Amino acid sequence: MSLEHPGLKEMHDGIVYKYYVNGMWKNSTSGRTIQNLTPYDETVCYEVQACTTREIDEAYETSKIAQRKWAKTPLWKRAELLHKAAQVLRDYAEIIATPVVREVGKNRKSAIDEVKRTADLLDYAAEEGIRVSGTMLPPDSFTGQERNKFAVVERVPLGVVLCIPPFNYPINLCGSKIGPALIAGNAVVIKTPTQGAVSTMHLAFAFHQAGAPPGLVNIVTGRGSEIGNYMVQHPGANLISFTGGSTGIDVCKKAGMVPLQMELGGKDACIVCDDADLELASTAIIKGGFSYSGQRCTAVKIVFAVDSIADELLTKMKAKKANLTVGHPENNCDITAVIHRKSADYIEGLVMDAKAKGAVFTDDYRREGNLIYPLIIDHVTEDMRIHWEEPFGPVLPFVRVPNESRAVELANKSSMGLQGCVFTSDVTKAITIANDMCTGTVQINGPPARGPDHFPFQGFKDSGIGTQGIRNSIESMTKIKSYVINLPTPSYAVGV
Ligand code: G3H
Repeated sequence: MSLEHPGLKEMHDGIVYKYYVNGMWKNSTSGRTIQNLTPYDETVCYEVQACTTREIDEAYETSKIAQRKWAKTPLWKRAELLHKAAQVLRDYAEIIATPVVREVGKNRKSAIDEVKRTADLLDYAAEEGIRVSGTMLPPDSFTGQERNKFAVVERVPLGVVLCIPPFNYPINLCGSKIGPALIAGNAVVIKTPTQGAVSTMHLAFAFHQAGAPPGLVNIVTGRGSEIGNYMVQHPGANLISFTGGSTGIDVCKKAGMVPLQMELGGKDACIVCDDADLELASTAIIKGGFSYSGQRCTAVKIVFAVDSIADELLTKMKAKKANLTVGHPENNCDITAVIHRKSADYIEGLVMDAKAKGAVFTDDYRREGNLIYPLIIDHVTEDMRIHWEEPFGPVLPFVRVPNESRAVELANKSSMGLQGCVFTSDVTKAITIANDMCTGTVQINGPPARGPDHFPFQGFKDSGIGTQGIRNSIESMTKIKSYVINLPTPSYAVGV
């Protein structure tokens, strides 16, 4: 596909990108832009608009008007829009992947996969949405009632969904919000992550090319510290769907009387029992711990290995870790620079704290700028920060435990509860441990993962509120409305 597509050219002047409201790409009247630096060499790759509160008001106003028309658009037509947008993503996957590589540092293959995964997600949301139907409830199932009234119950849109995706999946974790929102009859206002903004904006390009009515999809940019509170406290938001870190807890406190769909990260534990297939477990741990340099909320963030197999498991993990390639995202390396210097410094702080407290590194700690080489940290203990905190980087704590019960006990002490996993060949043990783990999902003999995107995805404790997954998100983004038909006299259908 040509880079000269006029729809792509409208989005920017050189490296300066516009925001998108009411079907138009605009420069902010603030006259200010925010620079995005590449994670890997910290050069400026893009600038995005620092939107004003007036521009945010306009986004909400226009989305409200568009939503009222959209809600009256037949479902098959809504589905058609999603399918068309999905096709645009597929047609331009290579081009849309470029900002993901540049501003987020995801390797090119994974960036392209993310775009295609989002296209599949939109198609699935369209298919799922057209099959959402209401119910009819007769009254006489309730004691003492005659058949003289019927409740017709259906799902109706909430209105305007404020979508706040994170940097690590700037396209997919925005698509996972706007696909269900739109098919359910809502309009969306999107607040992009600062780093990742240009990637997310390509979803607007896809919907614009697909023929979305003006105002249905709106994207504003700006620093969370400047416009975040204004956006989440705005009376125009009828639901907030947020994915990110612990700042989400602050969003919850500030949001007020609106439904929330929150995913705030995890400290996903991997428990390896003495009867586990260690080949399988070690492969899953390395993949789960280090893919996208550990910058996934569902990354394996701590390993609990039962003493009797700990050495053998660690040997296998080290051998597999040695195969990871480290370097530039354009070279499709497994490990690339983490998102920014603040993040790299934070990860380093956790590593140094563990070292000072007696942890054993399987390799020398190595950092070049924001590129941190993958590291397994052995003999991690409860007094170390890395036992509890989420590094969001390629460093993996390894804890030796006397038995599985101790592993479950330590895993459950975490304030988070997104996913967990257990490796064992005993199905009874697997189910027992899965039941005991306080997480939204437990993977048995596999690494934590959100996908496939139609699976329910939810965090317990500080990991979140509500459930994602396409069907679940459609439900979260709608509310029940009932119509009760009252009859003057009872009426029973007699059949033949
Ligand atoms: O980072 C949070 C994502 O929801 C994780 O998604 O399991 O597909 O990597 P993933």
